[in-house]
Amino acid sequence: MKEQSLTVIEAITQRRSIKMFNGQPIDREDLMSIIDDAVWAPNHGNRQPWRLVVACGPELEPLKDLIREFAVPNWKELSEDELQSKMSKFSLPGAYVFVVIPEDARQKERLEDFAAASSFIQNMQLLAWDKGIGACWKTPAWLDNPKFREPMGVKTGERIISMLQFGYYDLVPKEKPRKSASEIVTIFGE
Ligand SMILES: Cc1cc2nc3c(=O)[nH]c(=O)nc-3n(C[C@H](O)[C@H](O)[C@H](O)COP(=O)(O)O)c2cc1C
Repeated sequence: MKEQSLTVIEAITQRRSIKMFNGQPIDREDLMSIIDDAVWAPNHGNRQPWRLVVACGPELEPLKDLIREFAVPNWKELSEDELQSKMSKFSLPGAYVFVVIPEDARQKERLEDFAAASSFIQNMQLLAWDKGIGACWKTPAWLDNPKFREPMGVKTGERIISMLQFGYYDLVPKEKPRKSASEIVTIFGE
């Protein structure tokens, strides 16, 4: 782990979604410390509407076997090289965090819970970035597949809203430009 200490502005503006990792393992203690700090995300009523399913270490192999069934359904027909290439974006992260939230029947609470969990996710991404660890929030459609949810231990009334990949990286992707404040702001009454 790289000991860094970015300012809040640096962490927010310099973070990039990392989609290509270099395969270096992630220390479980580092991941748990990121999670321990990220839980300070704002959330209505302190409901803390999240739980995480984590893979970091030996449990990564069986997780990748499960992901392969959904990400590369025809994997049995591929050569070893083809399969390795198709699976590289799933096999190189050093850790996975699946964020599971309750699906409250009340719309207001459901939206609040999603918003709170999104803040929690961004906290994790920024804290990881500060440690030199890259992250990407991914939402492949198969997160909702019952055959994926079941081995993940996701219950009725819960939903996986994010597959977060964490890992070390060699290259930082180019920034994706953002609109400036003046482009998105309307002054009240004008
Ligand atoms: C809700 C959400 C879902 C996303 N899903 C995916 C995804 O499925 N696959 C992916 O490659 N990136 C995904 N991303 C990452 C975006 O591609 C990335 O944030 C965007 O390109 C901006 O890049 P930056 O984060 O480096 O600024 C997702 C981001 C968010 C917030």
